[in-house]
Amino acid sequence: MEHDLFIEIPWALERDTKPLDNEVKYPEALVRHFLKKYTKKGDKIFDPFAGLGTTLFTSEEMGRIPYGLEANRERFEWVAGQLEHWNNLKHGDSAKLLDFSFPKMDFCITGPPYMPRHHKWNPLYSGDPKKAGYDVYLKRMAYIFSNLKKLMKRNALVIVQADNLTHGKIYTPLLHDLLACVSKNFQPCGETMVRWKNAKPDYPSTTCMIFKNT
Ligand SMILES: C[S@@+](CC[C@H](N)C(=O)[O-])C[C@H]1O[C@@H](n2cnc3c(N)ncnc32)[C@H](O)[C@@H]1O
Repeated sequence: MEHDLFIEIPWALERDTKPLDNEVKYPEALVRHFLKKYTKKGDKIFDPFAGLGTTLFTSEEMGRIPYGLEANRERFEWVAGQLEHWNNLKHGDSAKLLDFSFPKMDFCITGPPYMPRHHKWNPLYSGDPKKAGYDVYLKRMAYIFSNLKKLMKRNALVIVQADNLTHGKIYTPLLHDLLACVSKNFQPCGETMVRWKNAKPDYPSTTCMIFKNT
């Protein structure tokens, strides 16, 4: 299978997320692109960081079966309240994804929570001060993906959308650090650069890393 090196997707958030903020969301068209390319109807699609449910809603719309986890109760309730397969979305920590009796998955696409390297607040632990710091975040991320490996079918693909971060003079090579974390358990097999059509000036593009469960 040839992976796209470069694609263009409109920057458009189609689903109204009120009363919740849509800051964390990726466009539906991004998920649609990867589902169309790599999956078929009836496939089980997983998102360990479901957020506002873009992966799950788009999977359902395309006749795939969505599953996911979301740690934030408000987001979880908002998504589950609108999803046909509402019982496939669980509220909880993706580090414990093997505790939820999910079936084996055909495909995963996700946008993990971001952490700049100079921050103490670790989003994977909802800011627990005992779990502060970028190193702890990366270690936990690697652990989450080691569990995800056990949930995915053999040869299943995992797409991880991420960006490097610039805060003034501080640069966080998050994309590259996540590549290192996920590669401990999955084989990297490509990278699709996504240019947003009608982009916001401060966010012209993103990257989707492609991994295989070999
Ligand atoms: C970048 S957002 C995902 C957005 C999603 N792709 C969308 O389009 O709505 C990351 C999500 O991961 C959730 N999260 C953070 N830590 C988590 C954890 N340990 N387990 C499960 N979800 C977690 C956050 O609450 C957030 O909603």
